[in-house]
Amino acid sequence: MIASTPIQIERTTTPKPKPPQDKLGFGIYFTDHMFIMNYTAEFGWHRSRIVPYQPITLDPAAKVFHYGQTVFEGLKAYKTADGRVQLFRPDANMKRMNRSNDRMSMPPIPTELALEAIKGLAKIDQDWIPDGEGNSLYIRPFVIATEALLGVQPSLEYQFIVIMSPVGAYYPEGINPVKIFVESHYVRAMVGGVGEAKTAGNYAAGLKAQDAAKDQGYTQVLWLDGAEHKYIEEVGSMNVFFKIDGTVYTPALNGSILDGITRNSVIRLLKHWNVPVVERVLSIEEIYEAGKNGKLEESFGTGTAAVISPVGELNWRGEKLIINGGKTGQLSEKIYNDLTGIQYGKLEDPFGWMI
Ligand code: COI
Repeated sequence: MIASTPIQIERTTTPKPKPPQDKLGFGIYFTDHMFIMNYTAEFGWHRSRIVPYQPITLDPAAKVFHYGQTVFEGLKAYKTADGRVQLFRPDANMKRMNRSNDRMSMPPIPTELALEAIKGLAKIDQDWIPDGEGNSLYIRPFVIATEALLGVQPSLEYQFIVIMSPVGAYYPEGINPVKIFVESHYVRAMVGGVGEAKTAGNYAAGLKAQDAAKDQGYTQVLWLDGAEHKYIEEVGSMNVFFKIDGTVYTPALNGSILDGITRNSVIRLLKHWNVPVVERVLSIEEIYEAGKNGKLEESFGTGTAAVISPVGELNWRGEKLIINGGKTGQLSEKIYNDLTGIQYGKLEDPFGWMI
């Protein structure tokens, strides 16, 4: 059953002051409103509404707290120089959300309904979209299992909620290469598990290794496959790319790697520029081999939050590999400039990505 009623809107009577545009950070401030919709087995998705941003009340037995039935998404709204508001590939996010829902035994949300929610909310809080270089409005849709029942079966009740946060550039000092620890002990996900779903547990599973890497002076970890600890999967919470001898490589999607929308956009941009790009199994050994032979030209992570994050150094089992002299590569820079150029409406959008 599909909700056909329009979104009910209750506007705040106490709008919050806007945060300083030069100190936004990431996910610290939240806009005046949020979207909520309920699901029950009997009525399907219903009661879609935009209400003042507020805490939610859940039964302590709600399944999300116990069995982690939850998925989330992340996308951004941008303000263009001529004052238009645009979203980057929201349809792709909503399709991925439904793939995550499916993997976590959660009900799909009709894409049109979810897009309507996001557009409606972004419209109501559009004066929260910050101006300024690199600033945007981060939109966080998520679904939680709310049925109060401790039995281990899929919940029969859910809430779909959308909140929004004005954010600054992920790296305020500009895109600078980060140092990455190649993780050979902990794993993020296994083939056959939930690695490709954007679900909370994958992020919780990564925190221990992230902390250990930080303690050793590294910003993030490079995740290897769970079975053999040989093949590259992701970097931190981003997809990862390597430029070797003129060709760009990224691990092929295998079920344990997130199907990143920025990843997909970078692949399409590269193809558009006739830069050879290959998705295949990539071993950490061959990356080190290429590094030693002087063929590893660049490496970078891709994600919605940071867009592009160059990798300047790897440490695998104590062996350090400096990439491109620890500096941002030309291709990483060009991808960053062109992708953000499209997002901010400074460059033409040949792909029809902006809505
Ligand atoms: C992103 O790069 O957008 C991510 O997925 C990280 C996010 C969880 C903050």
